[in-house]
Amino acid sequence: MPAPNAVAALLARERARYGHANPASARLAAETADHWFAGTPMHWMTDWQLPFPLAVREARGARIVDVDGHVYSDFCLGDTAAMFGHSPPAVADAVAAQAARGLATMLPAVDAAWVGAELARRFGLPVWQVATTASDANRFLLRWARAVTGRSVLIVFDGCYHGAVDDAQVRLEGGQTRHAPGLLGQAGNLTASTRVVEFNDIEGLSAALAADDVAAVLCEPAMTNAGMILPDPGFHAALRALTRRHETLLVVDETHTLATGPGGYTQAFGLEPDALVIGKAIAGGLACAVYGVTATLAARMQEAWTRAGPGRTGIGTTLSGNPLQLAALRANLGQVMTDDAYATMHAQATRLAAGLRAVFARHDFEWSVTQLGARCEFRFCATTPRTARASEAATDPSLERLLHLYLLNRGIVISPFHNMLLTSPATTLDDVHALLDALDACLFELAHAGTQTP
Ligand SMILES: Cc1ncc(COP(=O)(O)O)c(C=O)c1O
Repeated sequence: MPAPNAVAALLARERARYGHANPASARLAAETADHWFAGTPMHWMTDWQLPFPLAVREARGARIVDVDGHVYSDFCLGDTAAMFGHSPPAVADAVAAQAARGLATMLPAVDAAWVGAELARRFGLPVWQVATTASDANRFLLRWARAVTGRSVLIVFDGCYHGAVDDAQVRLEGGQTRHAPGLLGQAGNLTASTRVVEFNDIEGLSAALAADDVAAVLCEPAMTNAGMILPDPGFHAALRALTRRHETLLVVDETHTLATGPGGYTQAFGLEPDALVIGKAIAGGLACAVYGVTATLAARMQEAWTRAGPGRTGIGTTLSGNPLQLAALRANLGQVMTDDAYATMHAQATRLAAGLRAVFARHDFEWSVTQLGARCEFRFCATTPRTARASEAATDPSLERLLHLYLLNRGIVISPFHNMLLTSPATTLDDVHALLDALDACLFELAHAGTQTP
C-alpha cells in the first residue's frame, strides 16, 4: 500500500491544481453557497469532497463538460442513473415530444400497455407498478410485503443501501443490528423490525428467518454499495429455498445490477424473486423506478387492498406513472437497452477490468478488480471481499480521495463512492485508455513516494 505521507502530499498538490484549473466552477460555487444548504441543490453533491463543487454545463453520452470547458470521460454515469449514457437521443426525443403533450394527468398514458408488456417480457414478472425513485419503489414493496404477510420484520444484508428507506438504514455491529452511522432524524427504533445478516452467511440467514416473523428479505443480487460483493456459489439457491420455507417474500433490488444484462442479474442467473425493483437508469435517467411482482403476489396484494377497505393505502405518489415517465420508459426499453448496447458496455468493462489488473500488477499493488457486466470495482485488497466487513477493512478514504481527484484533474470522472467504474454504450476505447493511463501515472507517483512527476 502507498505510504500515507505520499498520499497526503499528492492530495494537497492535486487540490491546488483543481483550484487553479476551475475558476468558473469556483465562482459559481461561491454564488451557489448562499441559497443552497451545504452549497449544493442536494447535500450529497459534496460527497465528491472537492475543494468546491464542479459545475456541469452539459452531459451527453459518456462525456461531461464543465463550466470551465473541460471535457471528461464519465465512468460515474450519475451513480448508475446514466448507465446507458447521458441523455440517450431516443429518450431525449421522447421526453421532449411528451413534454409538449402533458406532464402529469393521474391517468394512464397510451404507452402504458407497451411498457407493461415489455417489462414482463424482459424481467420475467407479470405485474408492474411505477414509482418515481428506487427508494420509493423499495418502500412501497415493503409495505405490500407487510400487508400481504401480516408480518412486520424485514431482513437486509450488512452493507446494503436501498435508498432512503428508513427500515434499511441499519448495519451489523458485533453481531447485533444497529442504526447505521450518520443516520439523522430517525424517530423510531429500526432494530425492532429489521434484522441485518452478513451477505453470503446462509446460517445467519437461516437463524434470522427461524421465527417465521419475516415479511421480506430485501437484497441486491450482488452487493454494490459496500464495494462490490458477489454471491458465493449456491448462495442464491439457499436464499430462495430458505425464504420459501419460511413463507418470506424475496425482493430483489436490481437498481445497480441492471448492469449485468438486458434482464438484470435475475434473468442472467435465473433467480426467482417474488418482486423486483429497478430504478435510476430504467427510464434513461429520468426520475422513474418500476417494481414487478409475481401473479401470486399480485393476487395477494389485491386481497390485502380489498381487505383494508376504503381509505389511503399509503403507497404511491402523485407524479408516479406520469406520461413523461412512460414515454421515457418506452424509448429506453425499446431503443436504448438493447442487446447490442449491453454487448458494447460489457466489452468495454472487460477491457477496463483487464487494464486495471495490468496497471496494478505493473506497480506491485495487490488490489482486486471485480466485474459484473458493465460495472467494475477495484478494492485495496488482494481478493474480492465476501462480506461488507471485509470490504470496509479494505477501505482507505484518503487514498480514494486522491485517486478520484487525480483522475478528475486529468479528465476522468469516477464515482465518489468507493472505486466503482461503469461503462455505457457510448464509452469508447479511448475513454478506457485515458482512464488507465491516468491511473497508471498516479500509481507511478505513489510507488515512487511522490518524488517524481509524470
Ligand atoms: C441498490 C439501490 N437501490 C436503491 C437505491 C435508491 O435509488 P434512488 O436514490 O434513486 O431512490 C440505490 C441508490 O444508490 C441503490 O444503490
